[in-house]
Amino acid sequence: MQATAIAQPNIALIKYWGKRDLGRNLPAVGSISITLSELHTEVSVELSADLSSDELLVNGEVNQSMLVRISGCLDKVVGAERSRARVTSRSNFPIAAGLASSASAFAATTVAAAGAAGLNLETDELARLAGAASGSAARSLYGGFAELKNSGDTINVDTLCDVEAWPLQVVVAITATGPKATGSTAAMEISRETSPFYDSWIEQQDHDLDVARAAILARDFAGLAGVSEHNCLKMHSVMWASRPPMVYWNSVTMRCMQTVRQLQAEGCNVFFTIDAGPQVKAVCLPEDTKVVSKALAETPGVMQVIITGLGAAARLVDQE
Ligand code: PMV
Repeated sequence: MQATAIAQPNIALIKYWGKRDLGRNLPAVGSISITLSELHTEVSVELSADLSSDELLVNGEVNQSMLVRISGCLDKVVGAERSRARVTSRSNFPIAAGLASSASAFAATTVAAAGAAGLNLETDELARLAGAASGSAARSLYGGFAELKNSGDTINVDTLCDVEAWPLQVVVAITATGPKATGSTAAMEISRETSPFYDSWIEQQDHDLDVARAAILARDFAGLAGVSEHNCLKMHSVMWASRPPMVYWNSVTMRCMQTVRQLQAEGCNVFFTIDAGPQVKAVCLPEDTKVVSKALAETPGVMQVIITGLGAAARLVDQE
């Protein structure tokens, strides 16, 4: 009744922002992401009749704030009548800071919970269960480039291209490590209710998905760069125009974007993307990784850079 799973975070190039159905956590838009290799979250789930309530340890410390969502995820995977669980989670990167830690955490929790309960679920079912807990987590059930399709009553995720087929690199510039001010679920609802740009964001998404999908299938870096930066800046425009406004960037985030613009002007194959946090992810071709990581590490205010390739799907690593 115990299992451990590892999942890697993914970052969206074509972003998910907005929910169609809050209760079932269905996204209002499809999205395309890349799963990262060097960052990971390892989650152990132990189901035990001896426990009177669920327990959660995150990086060695008791965590009450995430416990409700983790318990809800276990209820969905194992069933509400389940034994209580001891859940232990460890990430090798800052959590709740816009580095997609909820994606890897809920993907790993879903896989570990199914393993602990002895359930042999297909990947698409695991993705649906993980996605019900955190929309982006569904994509971490797949490696490489994944597309989350949002149609009908459910979500479906497909691998667009394997890691080996297009081994892009990502340089993550850490500009701050504190937790974000507004969690993404609350922030998405504020955007839906108040941003004057929300409806056009939703309307244009299928076009951006088509352009990005075609660029990935053609290994067209410039094409992917253009649509990804545009989609990222549109999402942040929706956030900025919300009331209250949600500005996840800091001054170092802006400086990193300028560094990427400078590298592009010098002919470097790189583009940026930023999620609900201040970190900048610079996606580049492997031959440009060194110059990109040096330039970002030297950008004033950058605390750390993490260089990563594209990673594998969430998986079970231990089961008893
Ligand atoms: O899955 P959530 O609720 O953590 O939302 C993810 C939102 C973004 O990271 C900003 C975009 C995305 O598609 O991952």
